[in-house]
This record gives sequence, structure tokens and C-alpha cells, in this order.
Amino acid sequence: MCGIVGSINHYDIVPDLLEGLGNIEYRGYDSAGIAVLNNNELTTIKRSGKLRNLAQELSLKPLSSHAGIGHTRWATHGKPNETNAHPHSNHDVSVVHNGIIENYLDLRNWLTAEGFRFQSDTDTEVIPHLISLFLEQGLPPQEALNIALKHLDGAFAIGVLFRRDAEHLYAARRGSPLVLGQSDLGLCLGSDTMALTSSVDRVLYLEEGEQARLSRDHFCIIDANGQPIKREMKLFSHQIDSQSKQSHQFYMHKEIHQQADTIRETFYHTQRQVPELPINFKQLDRISIVACGTSYYAAMVAKYWFEQIAKVPVDIDVASEFRYRDPLLSPHGLSIFISQSGETADTLAALRYAKNQGQKILSIVNVAGSTIARESHFSLQTQAGPEVGVASTKAFTAQLAVLAKLALHTGHSRNAMSFSDASHLMQEISTLPGLINMTLGVEDQFKTIGESLKACSNAFFIGRGISYPLALEGALKLKEISYLHAEGFGAGELKHGPIALIEPGVPVFVLAPSDSLLEKTLSNLEEVMARGGRCIVLADQRSCRHLPENVESITLPDCDSRLTPILYAIAVQLIAYHAALAIGTDVDQPRNLAKSVTVE
Ligand code: G6P
Repeated sequence: MCGIVGSINHYDIVPDLLEGLGNIEYRGYDSAGIAVLNNNELTTIKRSGKLRNLAQELSLKPLSSHAGIGHTRWATHGKPNETNAHPHSNHDVSVVHNGIIENYLDLRNWLTAEGFRFQSDTDTEVIPHLISLFLEQGLPPQEALNIALKHLDGAFAIGVLFRRDAEHLYAARRGSPLVLGQSDLGLCLGSDTMALTSSVDRVLYLEEGEQARLSRDHFCIIDANGQPIKREMKLFSHQIDSQSKQSHQFYMHKEIHQQADTIRETFYHTQRQVPELPINFKQLDRISIVACGTSYYAAMVAKYWFEQIAKVPVDIDVASEFRYRDPLLSPHGLSIFISQSGETADTLAALRYAKNQGQKILSIVNVAGSTIARESHFSLQTQAGPEVGVASTKAFTAQLAVLAKLALHTGHSRNAMSFSDASHLMQEISTLPGLINMTLGVEDQFKTIGESLKACSNAFFIGRGISYPLALEGALKLKEISYLHAEGFGAGELKHGPIALIEPGVPVFVLAPSDSLLEKTLSNLEEVMARGGRCIVLADQRSCRHLPENVESITLPDCDSRLTPILYAIAVQLIAYHAALAIGTDVDQPRNLAKSVTVE
């Protein structure tokens, strides 16, 4: 949610700013801008829309500098136009910001009375003016920044350039993530490590309330009380697989196709990590799992797994609700937080709440070193590699892979499953990468169905039991990238209201693996067909024998019924992808969304 970059270097930093912004454009793509410093002058260039608009402008009017900051925006306050784009600059100070300044209206009134003129509708514009107010009182840049920050309520990660301090780039964070990077050429900052250019080989994560002052060769960290503190950079190597789409038209398609490998890698790593967790799974009396978006659907699947396989009661919550409802947590409980980015503001706040309640905190994240990973007692990393497509695909199945192993380990530790069942499930898990490839092998069938949705305005997904979360995920995927209205329902709930939406021809995807609920799911299918709905069944080799004649269906490989969510995830991803492709949306960067949601 908004990405920031900054660089101070012995060479021209403009290409680095653009490269960094390109790598984190998934955080927001409403506008992009940079500000650079030359001969005691600040120059700010910004454009609405995607980064390519800014890059085009810079190719016509090239800029160069040894110090600069950049921003890619996901609009919160103010429309996504050029005026509201960052950086926000006045004559002396330029600022890029990720977060929300909650008291901006009060500050704006005060600064207006002090004679500052506001150009934009953003909350951010108060920051440069506030800093300038203290500069005008004769304070040096660092002090002016310190005092300005004390007036801000809300969340921020900022990069700041001062017209009269060409040798430094300033940064600060409270609530939003910020990482510093160093190479032999200079220092830089970014919202996450993806923002750091390929030459960076050392990193340091700023902690809550900290500030940093960067020069070309040195950096200084300042704590929340304004005192310098000593901390070393850590060695860092880039995850490089994300940088190209290879032969795929969109990253999302590449990422869907990577899932046999990412699942295999994740199983392998988790297999080694889980037994080493210092958690007494035997004594657990309750697990709470909290997440947002697609990660929440992974939590929903995990509830079935932990309860069925490990016989532990599980509560699940979306983080934005959990954090405000004063949940009662068991003193001997474990709280699990799932997040691809490891930065989602609501999930992080929920984690802090549970930690304050004395819970043991286990996180499952895809981004190593992310705030959620660092603030957890234990963290398991999914091995999905960088996920660039805004709609989550391979990170979701990797989360499921971790959770399946975790549930299996918990079940085994609690003697909740027999040795033979545990070995059988392990064996079944090991076959999943092959089954994923078989599912990808019938992509043409998903393409035909996906393309047929182009003419529709509504679509529904239904499933029972462990397929219910996948019905929700299928609907979410479709609406995220194709903008079709889609809803997912527990198939048994259909008759309690949603069935009123069924009209002749409306597509209803029925998730029907051969599990103990198949017959009931097929009854619900009949109810839809009786009302003229167009049922498209996602079945397997066993369940497809029980389908009514002439119903549209795609047959997935057979697998243990407990593991079907992983295969059905691939199916619903492909349907959504091909629908979006046919409709012609920007699949990787769908409107209004961002990948890393660092505001509430
Ligand atoms: C955003 C993304 C979703 C993601 C959700 C949770 O809304 O667009 O794809 O599922 O955030 O993100 P997290 O990084 O916490 O998994």
C-alpha cells in the first residue's frame, strides 16, 4: 500500500529510483513520482497512473542526481491524480509517505494559519510544511524532522530530502515498514527489500519509532527518543525469480504455473522446520488463526485440518475484526498469523494484541524479515518466492502446504491420528506437485470456461466442508481480477437466501470432490439446475461418475479428500485468470487493489 524508495549515491540515482519503484509497483499504481536534489534545488516530477507514465516523462526530460526519493501511490486521501501524487514538496523539503496521518485536518488548519498553502487533498502534504515550520524557526534538518514527527498521529514510513542538506537523505517509520539497504555505491531505503536495487547486499530493518540519516557512505539510526543507536546492516541476497515474466503474458500466469515447485519446496522446508518449533502441541487447548483476504481463506481451510486431523478447536478471524472485538484467548493457546507480505497492517495489529495477551505467536509469511515475521515468537516461511501478481496464487497454496504439515505434526504429537493414517497423508502430500501439474495440463478446459464468463455479469461458487473456503476464494479471485460480481457460498446455505439470485444461465461453479459430502453437494447442484442455473462442476475422477448427464464439468485428479483445497485452488485461479484475460483487465495490477496493505 504505497511504496517508497530513496537513494543517496556516488552515481546518478534516478535509474535506481525507477528500478526500485518498478519492483514495488504492486504496492499501489494510482500515480508515481520522484524528487531529486541538484545545486540546492529540489525538483519534483510526478504523473498520475502507472509508473510507465512517469518513466515516459523522464525519458523526454531526463533528470539526474546523487540523491532522491520516489513513490508509487495507492490513494487513501484525495483522488488518484497528479496533484495528489507524491512526493509532496515545498521550497525546502520533499517527502514521500506510506501510511495515514490521522490528525492531518488539525495540522492542516494550523499550518494554513501559519501561512502555508496546500496544493493537494492528501494527508501527507502536512509533513513537508510541518518540517518547514520548524526549519523556519532556525532548527537544523534533523531536529526539525524530530519535532515534526512528534506532532503526527497515525502510521508512516517516510523518506525526506532537504534543499539545504545535499549530503543526507532522511527516513523515519512508525507503523509502516521501512528497510535500509547498502551497496558499495551508496545507501538507499525502501518499503520492502524488493524496492532495493540489485547492487544492494546489506540491509537493516528500521524498528518502530526509529529514524535514519543516510549519506553516501554512512548511516546513522536514531531511536524514538532522538538518541543515536548502533546497529549493523545484515548480509542480504535478492530473491531473483520474480523479475521476469518469462514466456507468460502476466506474472499471475507464471505464478500459477510455479505452484508444483513452490509447494514441493514449501513441504520440504516445513518438514524440517516444524519439528524444531519449541511449541508443546500436546498441551494446546485452542488455536486462533488470524489473517486477511486470501490468507484468511487459508486459515479457514486450516480450521478443518486442525479440528479433523489434530482434534484441536480452532477459532478463525479476519484481522480487521479480531483486533477490535476484544477476543478471549485461551491462556494455553497458540495464535497463528498468516500473511504473504508479512506487512498487512490489520494482521500486524491483531498479532500485537494477541502478544499482549500472553499468547505464543506463530506466523506464516512469504517475505523473510517482514515485520510480522520479526514480531512473532516463531515464524515459518512459505517458499513461494516473490509474488508479483496482486491477486495471490502461489503464496496461498504455499500457506496451505505449511498449514497441512503443521496440522499433521500437531495431530501426530497429540496421538490424534493413527500412524498409518499419518503415513498415508504424508504420502498423499508428496504426490501433490504431480497432481498440480496434471491440473495445469488441462488449462485449455479452464480457458474455455473462463472465456465463457465474459458475457456474464454474475457468477457463484458453492462448496461444502473443506471446499467451502475454496468457493469463497474462487469468487474472490474472479472479482479481484475480472471485476465480475462473484460470490461464494456454503452449498448448504444456498437455500437460505442466495438461491434467490439464481436465474436462467447464471454460472454456478460447484466444487464437488469425492468426499463424504458429495451427495449433499450434488443435491444442491440439482436445486440450482432446477432453476435454470448453469452449473459448472469441478469434480475428480471418482465424483464425476455421479454427475447428472450433460452437466458441464472439468475433471481434476483424485487425491485424499483432505488435500483437495490445494488442487481446487489451481482450478479456480485458472478460471479467474482466463475470464480476466478475455475481459481484458490488467491482470497483475487490478484496479483499486494493492498487494501489501499497510493501512487500516
Ligand atoms: C491484499 C491482497 C490480497 C491478500 C491480502 C492479505 O488485499 O490484494 O491478495 O490476500 O492483502 O495480504 P497478506 O500479505 O497479509 O497475505
